[in-house]
Amino acid sequence: MPSPVPPLTPTIEIPRTYRVKSFGCQMNVYDGERMAELLAEQGIAAAPEGEEADLVVLNTCHIRERAAEKVFSDIGRLKRQDGSTPLIAVAGCVAQAEGDEIMKRSPAVKMVVGPQAYHRLPEMIRVAAEGKRITDTDMPAETKFDALPPRGQGGRRSGPTAFLTVQEGCDKFCTYCVVPYTRGAEVSRPHADLIDEAKRLVDAGAREITLLGQNVNAWYGKDAKGRKVGLAGLIRELAEIPDLARIRYTTSHPNDMTEALIVAHGEVAKLMPFLHLPVQAGNDRVLKAMNRSHTAESYLKILDRVRAVRPDIALSGDFIVGFPGETDAEFEDTLRLVDAVGYAQCFSFKYSPRAGTPAATMDDQVAPAVMDERLQRLQAAVNRDQYAFNKATVGRTCEVLVERKGKLPGQWLGKSPWLQSVHFVGEAAVGDVVTVELTEAGANSLSARLLSTVPA
Ligand code: 5AD
Ligand code: SF4
Repeated sequence: MPSPVPPLTPTIEIPRTYRVKSFGCQMNVYDGERMAELLAEQGIAAAPEGEEADLVVLNTCHIRERAAEKVFSDIGRLKRQDGSTPLIAVAGCVAQAEGDEIMKRSPAVKMVVGPQAYHRLPEMIRVAAEGKRITDTDMPAETKFDALPPRGQGGRRSGPTAFLTVQEGCDKFCTYCVVPYTRGAEVSRPHADLIDEAKRLVDAGAREITLLGQNVNAWYGKDAKGRKVGLAGLIRELAEIPDLARIRYTTSHPNDMTEALIVAHGEVAKLMPFLHLPVQAGNDRVLKAMNRSHTAESYLKILDRVRAVRPDIALSGDFIVGFPGETDAEFEDTLRLVDAVGYAQCFSFKYSPRAGTPAATMDDQVAPAVMDERLQRLQAAVNRDQYAFNKATVGRTCEVLVERKGKLPGQWLGKSPWLQSVHFVGEAAVGDVVTVELTEAGANSLSARLLSTVPA
């Protein structure tokens, strides 16, 4: 019997199953979902829970410490017992910034794809299936969004909460940050596309949409009548979608906090009373060295204006401790700002030098032990405020969007308007907006008593 003719390049087969692992920010979560939809459209199925996938996409984050090292250890962990590996694609911001290095150091990686190029994954998979390795970190002028399958295609359902990227990239060039280099310049997606995507998400089951962007409040576009609109206009229009119950947005920059957006917080009932507005530090010399183009005072004034129109607004921020040259006294200004604001929640980080950013080569890098101590003090302050915020809401009646079942029988988990995690026991279903009374506060969540179910 003649031996079968070997296929031309039998190196790798087209994968049948995929898994996308997203790290870092919510925009990566959104990108991960869009990649999953794209792969599903190609006939590649999501690998069942607990089973190995033929194709693994590591959707990476480059914002803070040891990002590349983490990717290499994740790649190492994908090795199977027989020594083989799935088809590995590294996507996201580490791919963009360190793709060449990854290709050099990690032969198991067959594809490196940047955040603006992932719509080309299907072509890349075909190339990889021929046994070639391929990198695509272009930042093409045309948008990837045009090339992606529409949301909800093929009857895909959405969870009760969904992300919608409206804006990407950053022109602000804070001196510590890699985003302007990895995600590119600020680009706003067209108004009509966003309204369409939001409606599709709602049709697919979403009750809450969080509008995403690195500088989401820098979004602008033209409405159906050709009028220029900003984020506030977009929010007002989205609020008209009948089955959409809640709108949120993140992340904002203080300089793009327009009067129109502030006013919307007082007027649009579906816009939730929560504002994530990073300040990074409370000292003006440090803010200047960070190239933040706002001062502690101008930041606090914005918060005053928002509170004037929406007194119950929950505030959230990002902080970096130990920026190069930050003295003890300058750090104390950050603690003072935290005290002045009374945040509902915060994210705080130790400064970590990112290659290629101006701060990485600044003099007076702060010693790790000093950063540790500052981070601990800052986190103690923000934890205290978060608990105080939660306690202050006890006794209030509010709506909760039910997101999933809890661990206890009959228990449900969801979010309050102020983005607090709330659990209660009673008759409800995922996607319901129910009315509860908040009864007990913990540092990270609250218990509630179910009062009524608002029909969805
Ligand atoms: N070091 C530490 N934190 C950083 N962030 C961004 N770049 C760095 C860095 N080099 C933080 C900022 C930003 C958040 C998303 O990550 O606080 O708002
Ligand atoms: Fe980074 Fe600053 Fe742009 Fe935010 S505003 S993405 S911190 S450069």
